[in-house]
Amino acid sequence: MNSIFFDAPLCDELRRQQLYNGQLFVYSATPGTLAFCEFTRQLVEEAFAPYDPREAQHFLPVERFMAILADLKPRFIHHPRAKELIQTILLERGCVLDKTYFDVPRLRTMTHGDYLKTGLAYAFHPHRDTWFSAPFSQQNWWLPVYDVQPENVMAFHPYYWSNPVRNGSQEYNYYVWNKTSRGKAAEQLKTDTRKQPHIQQELAVDPQFRIVSPAGSMLIFSGAQLHSTVPNESSYTRFSIDFRVVNYDDLVHRRAALNIDSESTGTTLRDFLRASDFSRLPDEIVAMYDSGTEVDGELIYRPPA
Ligand SMILES: [Fe+2]
Repeated sequence: MNSIFFDAPLCDELRRQQLYNGQLFVYSATPGTLAFCEFTRQLVEEAFAPYDPREAQHFLPVERFMAILADLKPRFIHHPRAKELIQTILLERGCVLDKTYFDVPRLRTMTHGDYLKTGLAYAFHPHRDTWFSAPFSQQNWWLPVYDVQPENVMAFHPYYWSNPVRNGSQEYNYYVWNKTSRGKAAEQLKTDTRKQPHIQQELAVDPQFRIVSPAGSMLIFSGAQLHSTVPNESSYTRFSIDFRVVNYDDLVHRRAALNIDSESTGTTLRDFLRASDFSRLPDEIVAMYDSGTEVDGELIYRPPA
């Protein structure tokens, strides 16, 4: 059974337990999340001026749209203000900053129709983040930058929380991905040719549920949830922010969601930064989750200068 908790007054520890059991959490907007939306809107609106970013795709050739994203997304990801805002949001949600680690936030853009579904605006087929070497205790924190509709959000497929899906994760190694594919997002204009774990069976996409909540609301779910980007039929580009979170004590004690079908190797844990001082996880913790493939590629992705 999957439940959705709304504005639940649970402490972080109990929330994490529930997340690892497949429950989802939705929170109303807070000063921190609204500030994050405001900051993001400013960057996005400057980048797409004079157009409304949600409608710019109807006026710009796709190559121009892609070029704007190629400049905008790295600026957003590495902006010092974004890290500060995540600190604020984690505090608002009762996380202990010394024990909480996050990965830099991503700005996602999902365009309407068939305009652009690859590379920098990749439309995610149904997947679990754990197929992509995410730790099983990963929490995904997701917030819409503008209001969303059922036609441009994410779908969850609750049947598969406890039922395995045949998938290609056994061929995915995070370090090889960092070395050979990650830097090529901007080149994927018509089709995304990079090798990624896909489902290898017929999938019952229903029952599914979609959470439609206002700009600045926060959705938190386990990285082991099967989720997908729905075909965007809203006429508007969706802009959302997400970042991943792990808790130190849960990593030490291996408290996490169950692995029912992920066979990827390597771990994304080296990407996480401690919320109090932005230091990385100790090597001995990362080593607990490594797979002996550390010699195969790039442990931490370094974008070209
Ligand atoms: Fe995902």
